[in-house]
Amino acid sequence: MTNILLLGGTGWLGKTLSGLALDRGHQVTALARGTDPFVEGVDAVFSDRAMSEAYARVEHHDWDLVVELTSSPRFARAAIKRLGGKARNWVFVSSCSVYAEQSEAGADESADVLKPLDADDEEAESDYGRAKSACESLSLQTRAGRTLVVRPGLIGGPGDPSGRSSYWPLRFAESRDPVLVPADPDGLQWVQVIDVRDLAAFILDAGLAGHHGYVNAVGAQYQLVQVLQLARDAAASAGAAGTTKDGHTLHGYDLARMATDRVNPWAGPKSLPLVLPPGTEHEGFARRSDARALAMGLHRRSLRESFEDIVRADDGGGIRSLRLGLSAEEESALIAGR
Ligand SMILES: NC(=O)c1ccc[n+]([C@@H]2O[C@H](COP(=O)([O-])OP(=O)(O)OC[C@H]3O[C@@H](n4cnc5c(N)ncnc54)[C@H](OP(=O)(O)O)[C@@H]3O)[C@@H](O)[C@H]2O)c1
Repeated sequence: MTNILLLGGTGWLGKTLSGLALDRGHQVTALARGTDPFVEGVDAVFSDRAMSEAYARVEHHDWDLVVELTSSPRFARAAIKRLGGKARNWVFVSSCSVYAEQSEAGADESADVLKPLDADDEEAESDYGRAKSACESLSLQTRAGRTLVVRPGLIGGPGDPSGRSSYWPLRFAESRDPVLVPADPDGLQWVQVIDVRDLAAFILDAGLAGHHGYVNAVGAQYQLVQVLQLARDAAASAGAAGTTKDGHTLHGYDLARMATDRVNPWAGPKSLPLVLPPGTEHEGFARRSDARALAMGLHRRSLRESFEDIVRADDGGGIRSLRLGLSAEEESALIAGR
C-alpha cells in the first residue's frame, strides 16, 4: 500500500489528486481546514496550518509521497521541517509565475526566478511569484535537493474555478452571434493549458518515481487563433442539441483598443480571457519548454478534448456562471463600438 499525504486537498487540483490516487488504490490522507469538503474516501485531517500543532496527526508516519500545495513560505517551511525527514518523496507544487521574465520563447527550468520572499514576511505573501519562489528554495534546501518542484503553467479543464479555460468553449456553445474575438494579426499571442487531470497524474507518477529538481508542467503551445478554433470545434461537437450553433460569425476586436475600452487582459470582469495586452515583453509567455516534463513521462490529452469536457460538464449556466469575461451587454457594446 502506498501512503500519500496531501498538504491541501480541498482545492481543485487537491481534489483531483485525491480522486486519482484513490482510484489507483493508494491510501490518501489530506490536511486542510476543510473550507470545501474533502473527497470521499480520503483520511481527512482538519487542521489550520497557522497553529503550532498543525502537523501533530501526520508527523509520525512514513509517507511514500508528500504533495505540498501551499503558496505560503511560512507553511512550506514548517511542514518540511516537521515531515521532510521521514518522507520518501516530496513534491512541491509551484508555478511558472516564479520566472523573472516572460520574454524568451522556449526558456527551460534554468531561467532566472524572482527573488524569494523572506519566509517571515507574512504581509508580503500576496506577492504570489516571490512567495512560490521562497517555498521552492525552502523545500529543496531542507531535503538537500531531494524534492521535485513542479511548475505548472495555466491549469485548465472541467471545473476550472478561475474560468479562464472555460470561457471560450462555453461562449462558442451559445447561439448568440456575432462572437467578439481578439484580432491577433501577428500571431504573437500564445496559450499553454495543462489539463488538471494530466497534471495530477504527472505529480503522482513523477513524485512516486523519485524524480527531483525543477520541472515545468505546461500544456502544448498553441497560438491564440488555434485555441479559438479548437474551442469552436469542441463546442460544436459537445454542445447540447439546439443551443450550439455551428457557423458562428466572428467579430475581430483590435487589441490596441483594450486600454481605452477598459477591457481587462487574461481574467477578471470585463476581460478577454487568456488574452494579453499587445507588447513584446510577453513574447515568451505561454511558450515555456516542456521537454523535461515529457522526458519524465508527462502525458497530455488534446486541448480539444479538455474543451469538449468543459462544455459537457456545464450545468446550463454557461459563461454567466463564470466570474470573468464579457457579459452579453459588454460584448454587444464593444461590437457596436460604444
Ligand atoms: N490555477 C492555476 O492555473 C495554477 C497555475 C500554476 C500553479 N498553481 C498552483 O496549483 C495549486 C492548486 O491547488 P488547489 O487547486 O488544490 O487549490 P489551492 O486553493 O491553491 O489549495 C490550497 C490548499 O491549501 C489549503 N489551505 C489554505 N490555507 C490553509 C491553512 N491555514 N491551513 C491548512 N490548509 C490551508 C486549502 O484548504 P482549506 O481552505 O480547506 O484550508 C487548499 O486545500 C496551488 O499550489 C497553486 O498555487 C495553480
